[in-house]
Amino acid sequence: MQREPLPPEIETVLLTEQQIRRKVSELAAAVSADYGQSGILAIGVLKGAFIFLADLVREITVPVAVDFMAVSSYADAAESSGEVRIIKDVTESLKCKHVLLVEDIIDTGITAAYLRDNIRSRGADSVKICALLDKPARRVADVRPDYVGFTVPDEFVVGYGLDYAQRYRGLPFVAVLKKEVYTARPPALRGER
Ligand code: IMP
Ligand code: MG
Repeated sequence: MQREPLPPEIETVLLTEQQIRRKVSELAAAVSADYGQSGILAIGVLKGAFIFLADLVREITVPVAVDFMAVSSYADAAESSGEVRIIKDVTESLKCKHVLLVEDIIDTGITAAYLRDNIRSRGADSVKICALLDKPARRVADVRPDYVGFTVPDEFVVGYGLDYAQRYRGLPFVAVLKKEVYTARPPALRGER
């Protein structure tokens, strides 16, 4: 099928569709091996994780339930303030669940740390974090994902669910966005997930 040409705002493709597909299979195999038949509650962090979660759960071989959370950070708060607000919550109790928190990317780690602690405090039996991408250079919060697809450099990336100003989520690969696209409005201050 003919695909759209590469958008001109893309600097370079960092991870191809094939690389991602292979990695998602590896991650699903590792997750499946670690959890027993008691099953997993996979919680996708909206919006960025929706494509990764969809591909991941189709390859997990133990029972898996799916739910979603959405958060927003205060757009004008300093990133290190750690202020995160839940704007969409899971629909069922987390008590006694083995939760797999599925993130598109761990950047400062503030979101993942907040959600991990929040889920723990609500009585989950266990919480592990599975992130497609890890950008450790910008880490502020103490969070180490249990499963990581790829470690990426300190660049702003889009595609495979990740956006800039709600664009590019549908690209089948992960790409670095040209800096001039966001220099007028730094991505750190978007307040968007
Ligand atoms: P953190 O709380 O700083 O770890 O940021 C988490 C959220 O910021 C992610 O779930 C993404 O939605 C967004 N984010 C961080 N880095 C990038 C990036 O390079 N591209 C797109 N979104 C990003
Ligand atoms: Mg986003």
